[in-house]
Amino acid sequence: MKLELPILIVNFKTYKEGIGLNAEKLARICEKVHLQTQKSIAISVTPADVNRIANLVSIPVLSQHMDPDEPGSHTGSVIAEDLVDNGAVGTLLNHSEDQYRIDVLEKAIDRARDCKLISVVCANNIEIAEAVATFHPDFIAVEPPELIGGDISVSTAKPEVIKGTVDAVHKIGDIPVLCGAGVKTKEDVKKSLELGAQGILLSSGVVKSSNPEKVLFEMVSVF
Ligand code: G3P
Repeated sequence: MKLELPILIVNFKTYKEGIGLNAEKLARICEKVHLQTQKSIAISVTPADVNRIANLVSIPVLSQHMDPDEPGSHTGSVIAEDLVDNGAVGTLLNHSEDQYRIDVLEKAIDRARDCKLISVVCANNIEIAEAVATFHPDFIAVEPPELIGGDISVSTAKPEVIKGTVDAVHKIGDIPVLCGAGVKTKEDVKKSLELGAQGILLSSGVVKSSNPEKVLFEMVSVF
């Protein structure tokens, strides 16, 4: 499965609204908005929820985490082959809440590629995005950590980070850049796209909203 651009990736994190049965409810809402608008929406769920959600909805399901281990003597690892077998089309890597050592990250990106899993690699800033780009992941998502979960979006507080990341990454390769942190409105989405982002990685603006469906419809209307 390919991720169409522009894309909105909703990271369910481990908010209580985004796990288990609630993840099913939220995933169905995301699917409904996709089916009614034909706009590209993907979701990122906990590894524990990948199977139930991938069996439930037709939109792309990513895991929030993957380890670089190969099949073998590893206890508790989330490995690429298992994610594929359970219906994931891709994985987030190196989220600021789940950072990887650089060599581990490189191996995880390679393992995802070898297993045909789409890698969406997060970076806290332009420099990290540039370094990550040399590993040629499928997507890079830049998110200033201090803005995550807040009400001021990266496109308002740090537009230069979006533009700078797009410029730096595109010097290295044709890797789509997403952005996120504090994205709450369709204006935030629009501004991000104007700055060169090809999609949004967001969480609380949808997951914690009292009306996720309405927010999603509004946000994807600018795609
Ligand atoms: O993975 C997306 C996330 O870190 C951004 O979170 O709540 O600021 O949209 P939020």
